[in-house]
Amino acid sequence: MDLKSLIRTIPDYPKAGVMFRDITSLIEHPEGFKESVQKLADPFRDQGITHVAGIEARGFIFGAGLAIELGVGFIPIRKAGKLPGETIGQNYALEYGVDTIEMHAGAVKAGDHVLLVDDLVATGGTAIAAISLIRRTGATLNHSAFVIDLPDLGGAEKIRAQDVETHFLVEFEGD
Ligand code: PRP
Ligand code: MG
Repeated sequence: MDLKSLIRTIPDYPKAGVMFRDITSLIEHPEGFKESVQKLADPFRDQGITHVAGIEARGFIFGAGLAIELGVGFIPIRKAGKLPGETIGQNYALEYGVDTIEMHAGAVKAGDHVLLVDDLVATGGTAIAAISLIRRTGATLNHSAFVIDLPDLGGAEKIRAQDVETHFLVEFEGD
């Protein structure tokens, strides 16, 4: 299936000049959604992954399916203030200002092997923050999976520079 053709592009959202790659058109397509999750999982079926960590909000959609596909638990990485238990947090830079992601302290620990999942890598800032956060627990994080890469923005290179392998299903480059 041509998964790329199921991802629609909305020009000038959220602001002029941005081509927004919208995964809602992919996930409303039953075979497209299923194949996306299966293809995200394929490289990791025999890699000893113990947990999938997905980043709020769009990373939850694919991460939940991926955890079920791999038969492991799901760890939500949430925007600040949303988790009820004791948390650890990591700041990251936005275009303007700073944001924070959090996870439950003790959700993973040394000896666990976490697979990081999100829908898309742009600058890589969100994923890099999640990698730092998860590694602070002592867990091992060497693998990541995303539906979309925007290679023009260089995020995937930054992730690999952290010794994290990247798996993408689709690229939008120069268009
Ligand atoms: C988007 C996207 C990634 C992140 C990628 O999430 O879903 O999580 O940006 O950008 P980066 O590589 O430059 O960090 P967003 O923060 O818009 O929120 P959402 O997933 O809650 O919609
Ligand atoms: Mg997101």
